[in-house]
Amino acid sequence: MARKIQPEPFRIRMVEPVTVPDRQQREEALIKGHFNMFGLTSRDIYIDLLTDSGTGAMSKQQWSALLRGDEAYAGADSFFALKDAVREVLGFDYVIPAHQGRAAENVAFGTLLKKGDVIPFNMPFDTTRAHIFNMGANPVDCVIDEAFDPGSDHPFKGDVDISKLEGVIEQYGKERIPLIMVTVTNNSGGGQPVSLANLRAVSAVARREGILFFLDAARMAENACFIKLREKECADMTVAGILRAMMDCVDAITVSCKKDPLVNIGGMICCRSEELYQKLLPRVILYEGFVTYGGLAGRDLEALAQGLKEMTDEQYLAHRIAQVAYLGDILDDGKVPFVKPAGGHAIFIDAAAFLPHIPQRYYPADVLGIEIYREAAIRGIGLGALAFATEDESTGEILMPRLELFRLAINRRTYTNSHMEYVGESIVKVYQRRDSIRYGLKVSYAPPVKGLHHFLAHLEPFDLK
Ligand SMILES: Cc1ncc(COP(=O)(O)O)c(C=O)c1O
Repeated sequence: MARKIQPEPFRIRMVEPVTVPDRQQREEALIKGHFNMFGLTSRDIYIDLLTDSGTGAMSKQQWSALLRGDEAYAGADSFFALKDAVREVLGFDYVIPAHQGRAAENVAFGTLLKKGDVIPFNMPFDTTRAHIFNMGANPVDCVIDEAFDPGSDHPFKGDVDISKLEGVIEQYGKERIPLIMVTVTNNSGGGQPVSLANLRAVSAVARREGILFFLDAARMAENACFIKLREKECADMTVAGILRAMMDCVDAITVSCKKDPLVNIGGMICCRSEELYQKLLPRVILYEGFVTYGGLAGRDLEALAQGLKEMTDEQYLAHRIAQVAYLGDILDDGKVPFVKPAGGHAIFIDAAAFLPHIPQRYYPADVLGIEIYREAAIRGIGLGALAFATEDESTGEILMPRLELFRLAINRRTYTNSHMEYVGESIVKVYQRRDSIRYGLKVSYAPPVKGLHHFLAHLEPFDLK
């Protein structure tokens, strides 16, 4: 297959040296880290694709913006710089900074949810889901069925199935549904985008029923870029225009600014109505800090304001989407199974198809993580049973997720296309020796936190017959 390389639209004038630990060092690191990718240290790793969250490179404009930071406790100039950027890029009048995405979720969900509530989603990400559980509420997946078929090349596998959404509203009643939320792009389902037509359809349902509509907008610019590339009606719009059209569908967004907004730390809630804004403020003070800094330094707010303006740059986005697709093409050439089409921020390897001889209860996605690290000192993360299996509280039955994925998240503006070649070719080597990988994992320690134990779990390999 012809691979398409899009050259990097930046020059690299500051470098961070990295080395490849030898095999013995890797084995020691695995043991020390309890075979959990979160247990490895940065020094143990050559290419770190654990997450695209807060791991990107800031531009020189962002670094210079840091010096403008106004560190006043209340009403800092830097807050107003952020407010202006949010109004210009996203069209919301109100913004509440928070120290990261889950902090924004804590403020929003802690204010708006109560025990027994139900939140319809396309699919929530793990920390989002855990925050909903933490309030005694439950998310319900309403994503289209194609999301669960890694081989389907549906262009918008993050879309909500409107009949599933209406079914949930009918089943639980809108009194138990304080908000509907859609994750763009759908991280838990392979970084797949949601179409503008679908956002408009969800918005129509939410307005008809009088339910608030929120986006988890961590990867909103990548989503807008996919809409431009794949939704015929939007081909002539700019990415910035599409992003505004996405925002016009919703009442509010929570954002992990560590993703598309191109900063290493930060989060925010943006909303349209003063009433909702006022309602959210007390919890910001309780958990984050005063409402004009929300746990961030003034300099962080400046870098974020600049990052918001940079994230819709079409050359940057074209390279980003193409770089992920390029890694996908290398894997495809080596017949490695992954979720098609390639995601916006990551490749999600189908671990169930890669290691079909390892039962899901023995965590094949996490075994794959260990083997890829062993092979090439590359770190990714399993997003399968270890992260998403739940227990049915009434029967005690363990409910397995429908997908067993291993994610390689590409850091923004950090790695080159030749790093992608190293990653792709190393994984193809692991695929070629897949039949010899004959062990599973058991959890020897797990903290008692529903939905989050994979971050801290200790794992132990054991041989499979
Ligand atoms: C879709 C999505 N929502 C929310 C979060 C949480 O954001 P943060 O890590 O900034 O707390 C993440 C983090 O990966 C995410 O991918």
